[in-house]
Amino acid sequence: MGMWLNLAFLETNLHHISLQVLLIITLVHFKGVSPDISNAVHITALLGESVVFNCGVDFPGDTPVPYVLQWEKKDEDIPVYIWYDSYPTHEAEEYKGRISRVDKESPFGMASLNLTKIRESDQGWYECKVVFLNRSPNSHKNGTWFHLDVHGKPFCCPNLVM
Ligand SMILES: *[C@@H]1O[C@H](CO)[C@@H](O)[C@H](O)[C@H]1NC(C)=O
Ligand SMILES: *[C@@H]1O[C@H](CO)[C@@H](O)[C@H](O)[C@H]1NC(C)=O
Repeated sequence: MGMWLNLAFLETNLHHISLQVLLIITLVHFKGVSPDISNAVHITALLGESVVFNCGVDFPGDTPVPYVLQWEKKDEDIPVYIWYDSYPTHEAEEYKGRISRVDKESPFGMASLNLTKIRESDQGWYECKVVFLNRSPNSHKNGTWFHLDVHGKPFCCPNLVM
């Protein structure tokens, strides 16, 4: 329900507001969402490596319309990544420099996220959310959920280093 308010607000006001404000608005509905586990994509990655969360942009009626791409992590206050048109992208502090959208030429969906230098703290639930602007809230679809599992390298002895 907080979600709907949020989307309605977004759709009517987005052209007036900055990404910073957008970020704050998204916080309102953000806490306490529970992942739709039944359709979740499970991904395993090794510490220090990269992973791509494959997510598409499914335009309504196949016609490109403006949208906001937002990647959220469960139990984090601030979305991991927000992209909107020509605004500077938002990257959460602990993901700075490690996160980007995949290359346009890549075989992955347009909303896919490329996370590099994986840390143990990256483990958890992520949601890919594409919000189409100028649409009524009920055309909104649930995001796609991903679960990232991070494994240590089998023969790596971090305690012996340094
Ligand atoms: C969206 O998620 C909610 C809660 O997980 C679920 O009840 C609902 O059926 C989902 N809707 C769609 C269209 O998947
Ligand atoms: C992910 O990012 C890394 C580092 O920038 C890059 O080397 C790699 O090609 C990217 N992968 C994809 C699928 O975009």
